[in-house]
Amino acid sequence: MTTIRFIREGIDIKCKPGENLREIVIKEKLQLYGLKGILGNCGGVGQCSTCFVSVEGGNKNSLSPLTEVEEDKLKNRPENWRLACQTIINSSAIILTKPQSPPSNLKDLKESAENKKLPR
Ligand code: FES
Repeated sequence: MTTIRFIREGIDIKCKPGENLREIVIKEKLQLYGLKGILGNCGGVGQCSTCFVSVEGGNKNSLSPLTEVEEDKLKNRPENWRLACQTIINSSAIILTKPQSPPSNLKDLKESAENKKLPR
């Protein structure tokens, strides 16, 4: 088992390596989408660009490499952004959902998430 720490929600979710990040978020009933994605998303096939997350911790191999879809859809976005539907978990990571609308206390949330040991 591995752990995904969701810093906006303040929770750790256990999952298995090989699981899809979007599916984990949906299974745990966390909010992945902003308004545009709530009103209409592609269902996880990499076409709508509404399932953004940012990777705030872990190691460089914690998640699968960028897919070709992400290379295209994320080319004008920060380097640590991913499309959750295209992302496979390899090992523990720290994730921010909806990085396009960061919480006002993001710095504090990040510090708190980084200060707790992340299980492997
Ligand atoms: S759900 Fe549409 S791009 Fe990820």
